[in-house]
Amino acid sequence: MHFSTAAFLALVPTVLGHGLITDPPSRPVGPAILENCGNGVVSQIKADNTSHVEGLPEAAAKDKAYKADRCNLWLCKGLQFADNTANVQKWSAGQVVPIKIWLRIPHEGSANVSIVDTKTDKIIGSMLKVWEKGYAPGRSEKDVPKDQKEFSVTVPTGLEEKCATAGDCVLQWWWYGNGARQTYESCVDFQIVKPAAKERAFRS
Ligand SMILES: *[C@@H]1O[C@H](CO)[C@@H](O)[C@H](O)[C@H]1NC(C)=O
Ligand SMILES: *[C@@H]1O[C@H](CO)[C@@H](O)[C@H](O)[C@H]1NC(C)=O
Repeated sequence: MHFSTAAFLALVPTVLGHGLITDPPSRPVGPAILENCGNGVVSQIKADNTSHVEGLPEAAAKDKAYKADRCNLWLCKGLQFADNTANVQKWSAGQVVPIKIWLRIPHEGSANVSIVDTKTDKIIGSMLKVWEKGYAPGRSEKDVPKDQKEFSVTVPTGLEEKCATAGDCVLQWWWYGNGARQTYESCVDFQIVKPAAKERAFRS
């Protein structure tokens, strides 16, 4: 028996990884992504919001509503801050933030968590978490080590100015499955607030 290309392609989705940050809430779809990325991208994300980025540029290219610079597909899959204003986290330097990932379908690879400047699309400072290899092994979510699905990051110091305004920075989880050669991204919106103790000290 021969495997035809079609049969092979039909098997591919079963080996792809899929994931999303579930806590704190990550960017969902909404009117802003529809406006900036178009319905081709939105309908793919709606069909499976844990899916990879690589399918999206093709959908976007066919869509007249797609605005490359405003959609920014490689940052948070094009998901927009304006659709997540209800979920802005208020963090202060040194705060330990627990994060939960839904690894719906694992695929072994590398992953990291970082803070990204949304204006320049550049990572700010050092990575908050890095798995250089061995991230998300196995066949189902229960095969994945618990500390890859539930972990904490410490909010760095020095972001008080740059990330004072919600939408200027995001916390991005980024995972690449080596076998599937696919990228998964999920973003949490936050703003850095100055610790209350400091303000009290200022006033006294
Ligand atoms: C992702 O989709 C699931 C259902 O498939 C839904 O429960 C969840 O709220 C969605 N999350 C985001 C961030 O879009
Ligand atoms: C972060 O993770 C992504 C996906 O695995 C990878 O492409 C990138 O090189 C990583 N960066 C660092 C600095 O670890």
